[in-house]
Amino acid sequence: MHQLEEILRHYGVEGTVEGEGKGPLIKQIRFKPKPGTKIKNITSSIEDIAREMGVRNLRISNVCEGGCIGFEVANDTFQTVPLEDVLESDEAKNAKGALPISLGVKIDGTPVFADLAKMPHLLVAGATGSGKSVGLNAFIISLIKRKKPSELKFVMIDPKRIEFSVYNDQKYMYMPVITDNADASEALELLVDEMTKRYELFEKSLTNNIGEYNEKEGNMQYIVTIVDEFSDLVLSDKTVEKKIQILAQKARAAGIHLVLATQRPSVDVVTGSIKANFPSRMAFKTASGVDSKTILDTTGAEDLVGRGDALFLAGNGELSRIHGAYISTEGIEEILKPYRAKVAPVLKKKVPAVEEEKVTITKDGKKTEKKKEFFLLSWIKGVWGWLSKTEKKKFLKWIWLLLVGAFVSSKTQDKSGALFDTIADNLTKTTKRRTYTTTRRKTTSRRRY
Ligand SMILES: Nc1ncnc2c1ncn2[C@@H]1O[C@H](COP(=O)(O)OP(=O)(O)O)[C@@H](O)[C@H]1O
Ligand SMILES: [Mg+2]
Repeated sequence: MHQLEEILRHYGVEGTVEGEGKGPLIKQIRFKPKPGTKIKNITSSIEDIAREMGVRNLRISNVCEGGCIGFEVANDTFQTVPLEDVLESDEAKNAKGALPISLGVKIDGTPVFADLAKMPHLLVAGATGSGKSVGLNAFIISLIKRKKPSELKFVMIDPKRIEFSVYNDQKYMYMPVITDNADASEALELLVDEMTKRYELFEKSLTNNIGEYNEKEGNMQYIVTIVDEFSDLVLSDKTVEKKIQILAQKARAAGIHLVLATQRPSVDVVTGSIKANFPSRMAFKTASGVDSKTILDTTGAEDLVGRGDALFLAGNGELSRIHGAYISTEGIEEILKPYRAKVAPVLKKKVPAVEEEKVTITKDGKKTEKKKEFFLLSWIKGVWGWLSKTEKKKFLKWIWLLLVGAFVSSKTQDKSGALFDTIADNLTKTTKRRTYTTTRRKTTSRRRY
């Protein structure tokens, strides 16, 4: 009897092992349970079953050939799947669609390709070191192998400044690699504008999408936007999520696609609106079951083995285990060699807010007034900052006493309060004058509009 059959019997699960398949990262044991077996009995005891089997990272999958349950166990040694081999395979040659990307290989080592144009956008998550960046590089390189620079352009956003520098100065780039959050937000805005322009072109040419337009009119390029770590971007700028939402909802027909990756799949980053617009998702090994649930709506990614081991959730809800193919930075450089070219910046650098304020004040008088006001304010702030807490209290107390004294003396008409009387008088006059001016200004402005 197979060891697994015996162990499962301890938990009241009867059935037979139908076979085993060994891939580059994991071994899958196919177990056929007796009719009437509840899968719940297995899932609820998964940790104990793993302990009895003497393995870590045990995962079970109910989608397995012949009505079996797949028991997936990590191999003792991992094999790396070179991306070059995957891209030379028959599966690569037969891959259909406008933007086929290599997701990696199945458990048994068969290459898997999927069309990014159909997805139409992809969300990628996983803990640090789980294989996200290698995965993104595999997507990029598989597209570069398939499309010419005249057919495809990339927008790459890399706030960590380490992952995409190799792609700078490449004919495939729509703009230089972006490493700044403000620039990234501007780039997304630019993509929304580009999308709008493309829709106008479709309208003029009586076409509906990039495919039809290219057949009729000529060359419209696909634009694939890749963000390696979008959590800071979403959290630092409230408008980013909206822009992503607009692009995710409408950019598909215009040939603009997004691939967003994060190591922090928390609900404030992978929000409901982002999830709703990204039905295709890929989870590399996550830090916890909660993270797995956020990205895939189910646990399991926390039990992956790392090194590109992933769960892919297709748009139709099907979940499959995939091992990402590997390519080194040197390998990428080699492939990119023929495409070196200077890429012109397209983003306009925004003028800082302070400068804008100076520019908007046109009249000379106003300008000086504003400057003086700023000077006086900053001077008061400076002096206030030097004072200790007790000095501040004393100062405020004296001001208060002075004002109260001024009013009391003006009411009692006391001779000794003559000085305060004058101050109070002046204060009342100024207040009156101010009230009058405000009213007049209000009236004028009302008349003007
Ligand atoms: N598909 C893979 N095959 C083999 N090793 C991999 C694979 N993906 C990642 N690795 C290994 O894991 C390391 C971290 O991968 P990386 O993609 O940088 O992780 P992340 O971007 O998620 O932090 C890589 O340097 C490599 O050694
Ligand atoms: Mg990374």
